[in-house]
Amino acid sequence: MPKVELHLHLEGAAPPAFIRGLAQEKKADIGGIFDERGNYRYKDFWDFLKVYEAATSVLTTPDDYARLVLAVLEESAKSGVVYSETFLSPDFCGGRDVGAWREYLHAMREAADRAEREMGITLRGIITCIRHFGPEKARETALCAAETAGDWIVGFGIAGDEKVGKPKDYLWSFDCAREAGLRLTAHAGEWGGPESVRDAVRDLGVERIGHGVRAIEDLALVDELAERGIVLEVCPGSNIALGIYPDWRKHPIGELHRRGVKVTVSTDDPPFFHTTMAREYDRLNAAFDWDEGVFDGIARTSLDAAFCDGDTRERIK
Ligand code: ADE
Ligand code: ZN
Repeated sequence: MPKVELHLHLEGAAPPAFIRGLAQEKKADIGGIFDERGNYRYKDFWDFLKVYEAATSVLTTPDDYARLVLAVLEESAKSGVVYSETFLSPDFCGGRDVGAWREYLHAMREAADRAEREMGITLRGIITCIRHFGPEKARETALCAAETAGDWIVGFGIAGDEKVGKPKDYLWSFDCAREAGLRLTAHAGEWGGPESVRDAVRDLGVERIGHGVRAIEDLALVDELAERGIVLEVCPGSNIALGIYPDWRKHPIGELHRRGVKVTVSTDDPPFFHTTMAREYDRLNAAFDWDEGVFDGIARTSLDAAFCDGDTRERIK
């Protein structure tokens, strides 16, 4: 089944062997981040963020990022993904300097064009600021986003530690991105409860929420999300691997879908969570007995909620 993925962190999708290879090339010591089988090792979400940033530290040039784009899209294409929206961070690509950011973006774009020709997968970028780096750095990130908004950079978002600050602390950045024509999404309702989702929708005016699953703890909010057509980028395998829910059957995606919320399915940081888009679909099928009709509906929702232009949407249909 052709799949559309709306929530994937580029660095978080780096295969561990790819990061180990780069570390060896650069003689960088990041040994502690792998377990004895060579997988990423972390204790909890906050440790995951540290390991993520340590792995990312070996990606130091535009060419590293071009290679990463190819490696990541190859894995996605194997799962039948035909369109992927990926979070890109100027924080990691030249330290939020617009000139450097343009060079990284150019290299990533060339790699994405090649992947499209050779593997039939289309990539679009959502520039993301990182909540625990604070509102000041988020402003610089938003300026990078505004400078490079266009046919390939389609959105702006916020990821990182949801426990730090409030969505409204980032309002300037979201307004800046909105004025540049970018579509908006925010991570919320992963580590924060329903109020975090409410704040992101009300204060930032986002049309999609990254995760958003903890909205289930407030059924009035669930109804509101359904009525307003706010789309959730749900990443069940990520939530289970990070311990937010104990298993697939207890994951709220089934209930959210049943209550009319527009849910989509993504992998977040697949090698960290030992998942792929194919695995997410298989597990959902097994846990909720969803038939092809449900998956077709999710595919349609995902395509409608994609931030790309209409021509691209028609082409990948
Ligand atoms: N960055 C990468 N993965 C993330 C997640 N699951 N939540 C918040 N920020 C992230
Ligand atoms: Zn995420």
